[in-house]
Amino acid sequence: MVFFFATAGIMFQDITTLLLDPKAFKDTIDLFVERYKGKNISVVAGIEARGFIFGPPIALAIGAKFVPLRKPKKLPGKVISQEYILEYGRDCLEMHVGAVEPGERALVVDDLIATGGTLCAAMDLLERVGAEVVECACVIELPELKGRERLNGKPLYVLVEYV
Ligand code: PRP
Repeated sequence: MVFFFATAGIMFQDITTLLLDPKAFKDTIDLFVERYKGKNISVVAGIEARGFIFGPPIALAIGAKFVPLRKPKKLPGKVISQEYILEYGRDCLEMHVGAVEPGERALVVDDLIATGGTLCAAMDLLERVGAEVVECACVIELPELKGRERLNGKPLYVLVEYV
């Protein structure tokens, strides 16, 4: 994994080096699949952008649909929106109306949790349409930023912690 600064003072983690190693990438997906198969999850909601890398293979393997949670003005249909605060500004996630039905069991997938604001916005979108968020899953957690504490007790599963 590589560290870099895309915005002054904010450290990013680059997961593209993981993707260059097919065995490591498959092992990563398999760890999530082992955890979530047979759990009656019908929705994997992936957060733009890197949740779109890890979410779809998990969804296919556990027999769930994949729902992209996108940045503003990217989805063509009617959407619901949720704003949130990042370390370096504000952002917004959108989801297609009708993509998720009330009562569906959802898994939220992203590459990384830092402050937790992004995962909170994703969970808010799903819960606003009546879905049950079973868990959030990320490859990397930055525990120093205490994002886990912002998830209102919702379970978070991560593969790697960077301290
Ligand atoms: C990064 C990362 C998560 C989010 C985590 O995405 O991929 O989605 O930040 O931060 P948080 O826990 O503090 O909310 P980013 O916002 O940089 O957007 P991008 O995927 O479009 O680059």
